[in-house]
Amino acid sequence: MEDIVFDEERLVTTNEQSGDEWQYSLRPHHLREYIGQEKVKENLDIFIKAALKRSEALDHVLLYGPPGLGKTTLAGIIANELGVNFRVTSGPAINHSGDLAALLTNLNEHDVLFIDEIHRLSRNVEEVLYSAMEDYALDIVIGKGPSARSIRLDIAPFTLIGATTRAGALAAPLRDRFGVISRLEYYKPEELVLVIKRAADILDIKIEDKGALEIARRSRGTPRIANRLLKRVRDFAQITGDGLVTDSIADDALLRLEVDKMGLDRTDRCMLEAMIKKFGGGPVGIDTLAAAISEENDTIEDVYEPYLLQLGYINRTPRGRVVTRAGYEHLGIPYPEM
Ligand code: ADE
Repeated sequence: MEDIVFDEERLVTTNEQSGDEWQYSLRPHHLREYIGQEKVKENLDIFIKAALKRSEALDHVLLYGPPGLGKTTLAGIIANELGVNFRVTSGPAINHSGDLAALLTNLNEHDVLFIDEIHRLSRNVEEVLYSAMEDYALDIVIGKGPSARSIRLDIAPFTLIGATTRAGALAAPLRDRFGVISRLEYYKPEELVLVIKRAADILDIKIEDKGALEIARRSRGTPRIANRLLKRVRDFAQITGDGLVTDSIADDALLRLEVDKMGLDRTDRCMLEAMIKKFGGGPVGIDTLAAAISEENDTIEDVYEPYLLQLGYINRTPRGRVVTRAGYEHLGIPYPEM
């Protein structure tokens, strides 16, 4: 059995890789340019227009869903549509409550503060957010011991946009302070085709519809992956063909890059195979599986499993993970009949 490839090196990782920065140039700036997530978009459009009409700050917005679906992009669009500044930070980057206070006191009226991975804020930083979100105020403690006193500092009315992969990981008092909670969904292949064609247009890549569909099907429902695969396939099109991305060039390129018809790579297949060959297809507990493939539990749960679950190749049961018939069939291994 082959080794597991570290996630940072995977062509199909949903995480942002170093080297993905070129994708920033593809980011849409307006809601009308943003493809997919129709329900979320329609609602946001109304909320944005209403806030503008009342000259108020937009309610705080929580965006949640798997990585790579465009939470940061959407937050940037919201700020742009509101015509305000867009300040970006992340949960792990804010170490002290003073860091957050500094960010908040520097905001102008109705600005958007975007906190990525908001579930990773520390407790004391999170508490500063409560009064900021609710009353646009900061409670600051001055001095120590018996003479310590608290003063209240007003800040400009602003919009917090939080992004997280797991809404369940947020403390309830924080979650309750968001007026708008929107869940982003995996993109359908037809939507990814549009994302790919839009990117190809911006990057001046010639692509056939069938070529775009071939890439879309293998992009795990994720625009970030679709764009990455497009760029790799273009290399093949230019060297092995005449530059035009066709379905056969895409198929050939992605097979060589070991991204199969369903978008699984070596790492996915390796984990499925380990579950089948070492544990009879399961049920296997997460700890046991993690030890067997030398990975962290969290990495399996956050990185490897979501797409395999989405495809229905594995199931979670109370006794552990099992490989489904579809999972066996994908690997070409006969499903054990009882
Ligand atoms: N690029 C990445 N995601 C996109 C989206 N949802 N719409 C348009 N372009 C994108």
